[in-house]
Amino acid sequence: MKKPAMLLALTTVAAFGSAQAVTVTLACGSVGQELQLCKDGAARWAKKTGNTVKVFESPNLTNDRLGLYQQQLAAKSSDIDVYQLDVVWPGLLSQHFVDLKGKIPAAEVNANFKGIIAADTVNGKLVAMPWFTDAGLLYYRTDLMKKYGYSAAPKTWAELAAMASKIQAGEQKTNKAFAGYVFQGKNYEGLTCDALEWVASFGGGAIVDDAGKITINNPRAAAALNAAASWVGTVSPKGVTTYDEEPARGIFQSGNAAFMRNWPYAWALGQGEDSKVKGNIGVAPLPAGPGGSPAATLGGWQLGVSMYSKNQAASIELVRYLTGPAEQKIRAIEGAYNPTISALYQDKDILKANPFFGSLLSVFTNAVARPSGPTKGKYNQVSQAFSTAVSDVLNKKMTGTAAVAQLSTDLARIKGRGW
Ligand code: GLC
Repeated sequence: MKKPAMLLALTTVAAFGSAQAVTVTLACGSVGQELQLCKDGAARWAKKTGNTVKVFESPNLTNDRLGLYQQQLAAKSSDIDVYQLDVVWPGLLSQHFVDLKGKIPAAEVNANFKGIIAADTVNGKLVAMPWFTDAGLLYYRTDLMKKYGYSAAPKTWAELAAMASKIQAGEQKTNKAFAGYVFQGKNYEGLTCDALEWVASFGGGAIVDDAGKITINNPRAAAALNAAASWVGTVSPKGVTTYDEEPARGIFQSGNAAFMRNWPYAWALGQGEDSKVKGNIGVAPLPAGPGGSPAATLGGWQLGVSMYSKNQAASIELVRYLTGPAEQKIRAIEGAYNPTISALYQDKDILKANPFFGSLLSVFTNAVARPSGPTKGKYNQVSQAFSTAVSDVLNKKMTGTAAVAQLSTDLARIKGRGW
């Protein structure tokens, strides 16, 4: 973990003389504007209800958050009432969360995308309510595209590399720090997301298929990893193998990259007053591999109530409020956090703030899931084995072919007699 997590007292709102007012602790993420928007939403609920919310600042990396939360939950700690859960976690953590089915009205649950509700439902239990969804996107500099004579975003990874190379060569004449393409190359969950996009877009499958069969050992997957390795030290800085979301965004937003892979949140910040590239950002689907089609990894976050919470009723109300349409709308407009409530994709204010929510709707609705469903409680081990293999290829320690063969053996060992 990068920094010690801190408990921050948020708003202390007078309890209107009610004996029932309680204090609820909410664990929020802290990537980009995440923490601030979480605090704002919590404060609105506190004001409305007379309760108090303390916001627990979670680490940036999803892996670090998981480690910390698993410790809390294993100890049956009541310190955190409401947790922000990654879309790949319900299978890992379901036993620690209150079943929200029947506790949040079915109509409100069903207003969300079906696939996300399915991901949040484990053995019939609704582990958490969707809060925002994510999908990998290609960001590009519209001004530089024009300057170098390109009229459209790249459709294939080969086109992306060629365009990134030309723009980088030109820009580096006056700016040595300029990079063609930045992405998440560090060995962590984010690399699993990026690399699944490469592999799936080359037609190489999704590591493990829906039936639980290990599919990663195939030539298209190997070719996808080799293509990504060829970018490192050419169109992408060598340091890309240490980047997570925020370093990549920092480089792009300060005007030092032509292309970037990132999640939707980078849009709102890139269009912010202090962004060097404000007004010059385009968003497109990620490119495809030879003979494949574009793929975006499904990400996103949910809110769930701990079984060990001493304030379950109030915690459920907080989750219901934060995941409801009014909050999802505010977060979409202020932070480009994609709603999980399908009707909000017709909301004019949301589409005005984020035009690509409409034009790229199919990217969000067709995003490729990581294999957390079929691999259940072993997903984290699967993901770590995958990102480590990919990292070895990016760092030129192994070829794509050797890495997918080795990974397949490792995954078979993790699977054992079954997931
Ligand atoms: C984003 C996604 C999440 C993913 C993470 C990886 O936060 O929403 O699902 O696991 O990035 O870094």
